[in-house]
Amino acid sequence: MKHLVFIGPPGAGKGTQANFLINEFKYNHVSTGDLLRKEIMSKSDIGLKVEGIMASGELVSDDLIIKIIKNNLNFKVDKYIFDGFPRNLKQASFFHEYLMSEFDYVAVHFKVDLSVLYKRLINRRVSADGKHIYNLLTSPPKMPGICDYTGLPIVQRDDDMPEVVSNRLKIYDELTKPMIEYFAKLDKLAVVNAEQEIERVKNELVKVIS
Ligand code: AP5
Repeated sequence: MKHLVFIGPPGAGKGTQANFLINEFKYNHVSTGDLLRKEIMSKSDIGLKVEGIMASGELVSDDLIIKIIKNNLNFKVDKYIFDGFPRNLKQASFFHEYLMSEFDYVAVHFKVDLSVLYKRLINRRVSADGKHIYNLLTSPPKMPGICDYTGLPIVQRDDDMPEVVSNRLKIYDELTKPMIEYFAKLDKLAVVNAEQEIERVKNELVKVIS
């Protein structure tokens, strides 16, 4: 199996689908967003540095992201889903030229119209440990306010507040979207229609990885 890179706007369903693939296909999941949120929860130096940046929807510095990525990978034993990294052209060239110089990968574009994302994001809730993803409208927990798997409360991410969501979508358009052409030119791009219901997106992804 090749490594996978998930590219898509906030709310496209990257985390939802990664959770499925790690369970079914034993991928390892590297989400730079999750790693940063862990730093914030533990109130580390990195966490204190990035908390305000993430809450405003801006991107964290490339140097910090590259350091975090290098510290969290072990290519001798693992196949990865990269979720949220790379995030701009500079990170994409680091990824392709340096990290993947000896490995093969597919960059999967989660294609979805930006107009549906706002509603998905303001209704997203996650378990307090950040591992399980819900949606108040389309996939609520069985007991209101409680994670089905952990029994922890479900919470709203700071960057899912309506005023921040618009900024994140704008940043995606300006900085992340150009990577789609970058990976297409390298002949590494696959596209899934992420506007479909979750099960159908899963089925398309399974075709991509097989
Ligand atoms: P990050 O955590 O990476 O967030 P993101 O890319 O904005 O993506 P999301 O987690 O918001 O969305 P998702 O696509 O995973 O959607 P989900 O599956 O949850 O980044 C957060 C911040 O960290 C950044 O803003 C930045 O500050 C920083 N950062 C991270 N990486 C960085 C990097 N490399 N460089 C610099 N800064 C970085 O689904 C969303 C909702 O929709 C859920 O409620 C779900 O239930 C629902 N849903 C999912 N699929 C469907 C479907 N098919 N139909 C209907 N509803 C669906």
